Amino acid sequence: MNEFSGQVAIVTGAASGIGLAIAHKLLAEGARVALLDFNEKGLEEEFSKYEAQVLSIGIDITNEAKVQEAADQVVAHFGKIDILINCVGITGITNLKSHEVSTENLQKVFEVNFMSCFYTSKAVIPSMLAQKYGRILHIASIAGKEGNAGMLAYSASKAAVIGMTKVQGKEYAEQGITVNALAPAVIQTPLVDAMPEVQVKYMTDKIPMKRCGTLEEAANLAAYIVSVKNSFTTGFTFDLSGGRATY
Ligand SMILES: NC(=O)c1ccc[n+]([C@@H]2O[C@H](COP(=O)([O-])OP(=O)(O)OC[C@H]3O[C@@H](n4cnc5c(N)ncnc54)[C@H](O)[C@@H]3O)[C@@H](O)[C@H]2O)c1
Repeated sequence: MNEFSGQVAIVTGAASGIGLAIAHKLLAEGARVALLDFNEKGLEEEFSKYEAQVLSIGIDITNEAKVQEAADQVVAHFGKIDILINCVGITGITNLKSHEVSTENLQKVFEVNFMSCFYTSKAVIPSMLAQKYGRILHIASIAGKEGNAGMLAYSASKAAVIGMTKVQGKEYAEQGITVNALAPAVIQTPLVDAMPEVQVKYMTDKIPMKRCGTLEEAANLAAYIVSVKNSFTTGFTFDLSGGRATY
């Protein structure tokens, strides 16, 4: 059960939903985990019981300088970084046709969903290169593979994350670092609760299993992807869509 003992992970978006479930899973399996989220109170409430096993960093993930500072702080505190899991994400305004989308909102969604994955991976890769080992997981979305109508900003930002995953997977393939993405369909979290009902129905109706994924299913697959044993898969986007994406 202590699959991650001796390892150090960074989980972004750890105060809620998928990031929170993944952080608990890694902690339960022995990892030391740096939790990054701008909801510092949420981090405190959820994780203070783990004491020295966690390092909570309140941060706006869209601030590149602060992201670099956070990565430096993790290395100073825990000595290294083995795993990065990017779970921060927002949908932006949805249930809109493309001609109705505001440029400002689209840019905001790209900054949070895509640029954050760039900033964090850029900040941690040098220390992974130095130790010739690393596991990076970006949480993308089925929307990035298929394009959800009514969700231009979100779908395009997640497609960009999938594109970056393919690039990074190849770039570090010979250095012991794997970079993969995960593409969930719908998992009931505060992110989904905040969306218009009609948009959520559009997404859940497309799932052949006719149910949402669970947080446990997301955490289990994420934990496998960032484990030592996942050693021959990189640049890949894993499916978590109840049968929606079969490619
Ligand atoms: N829930 C789903 O159905 C679903 C489906 C596909 C993909 N995803 C993706 O999974 C990831 C996690 O989603 P979730 O449903 O758990 O969302 P969530 O809203 O429950 O959690 C997101 C977390 O990110 C934090 N956050 C948001 N913006 C931030 C910023 N600028 N700086 C720092 N922290 C910030 C929030 O405080 C929150 O704790 C996201 O990337 C999302 O796009 C979710």
